[in-house]
Amino acid sequence: MTPDLMEAGAQRRAALEAKAAQQTGGSGGRSASFGRVARQGEPDFTHGVALYVDGLTVSFDGFKALNDLSLSIDVGELRCIIGPNGAGKTTMMDCITGKTKPDAGKVYFGSTIDLLRASETEIAEAGIGRKFQKPTVYEPLSVYENLELALRADRRVFSTLTWKAGGAERARIDELLVLMKLEGEAHRAAGLLSHGQKQWLEIGMLLAQDPKLLLLDEPVAGMSDEETERTAELFLSLAGQHSLVVVEHDMTFVAALTQGKRKVTVLHEGRVLAEGPLAQVQENPAVIEVYLGR
Ligand SMILES: Nc1ncnc2c1ncn2[C@@H]1O[C@H](COP(=O)(O)OP(=O)(O)O)[C@@H](O)[C@H]1O
Ligand SMILES: [Mg+2]
Repeated sequence: MTPDLMEAGAQRRAALEAKAAQQTGGSGGRSASFGRVARQGEPDFTHGVALYVDGLTVSFDGFKALNDLSLSIDVGELRCIIGPNGAGKTTMMDCITGKTKPDAGKVYFGSTIDLLRASETEIAEAGIGRKFQKPTVYEPLSVYENLELALRADRRVFSTLTWKAGGAERARIDELLVLMKLEGEAHRAAGLLSHGQKQWLEIGMLLAQDPKLLLLDEPVAGMSDEETERTAELFLSLAGQHSLVVVEHDMTFVAALTQGKRKVTVLHEGRVLAEGPLAQVQENPAVIEVYLGR
């Protein structure tokens, strides 16, 4: 790629960021969490494990939010994690993404990347994308521009012929628009989307970064039944190419994702209480107790 083309790409990105910052009064600092400067070693998935968590313990003022938590997610697996409020689900995601450093335990991405030794940025660069509960898209920018910004945050784009082609970038955005069922909304301001559509846009922005592992914290909270169904279809279509960890309370959604065959993990008091097919864990007396006995 010529320096001119690189310059043009950088200018376009800077212009989009300035537009977002100007109209929201924000700093556009969001781009930092999307930035992927350079990959520091690819994760090794040859053993079939995408994520390995062992003996994870986190204390907040002596209270153990995670207490010897161990679980493992296979490559391409779609795993639902359920559990009552305060079980430690979000804290687990905080540990995987480097936001919280645990007191003890191990967290590996693939068989070689020790996530406890990596910063939040390095973890994102290694290929772990996280979706928080609240959608955070650039509201004044169009759906298309939001995806463009997410794609350009990946600097690898500038170092390959992909960007030079231009058309390839557009093709990827179009592909994401179709996947997110937002084809009809491409040129609307993101702020005008429904809550569910904003959630999909944000997932599309994460996918633009081509993550290997996606962590989704209560993705259908606040969605209509129809949006929830569409989200289940979307996640099912992503499984296989990506490994997904979905924390969710909505049992209809969990049932749609597991399809009677996928494993569910139940967390309680910072550790795994039960694991297995949904129907089986729902019959487990210990699980019934934590859900109903309070
Ligand atoms: N930063 C923190 N400081 C103190 N306590 C925390 C902090 N984060 C989480 N906790 C506590 O840890 C427990 C687990 O929280 P969380 O991981 O958010 O649960 P969940 O997502 O399963 O509802 C809760 O009791 C919560 O109050
Ligand atoms: Mg939570």
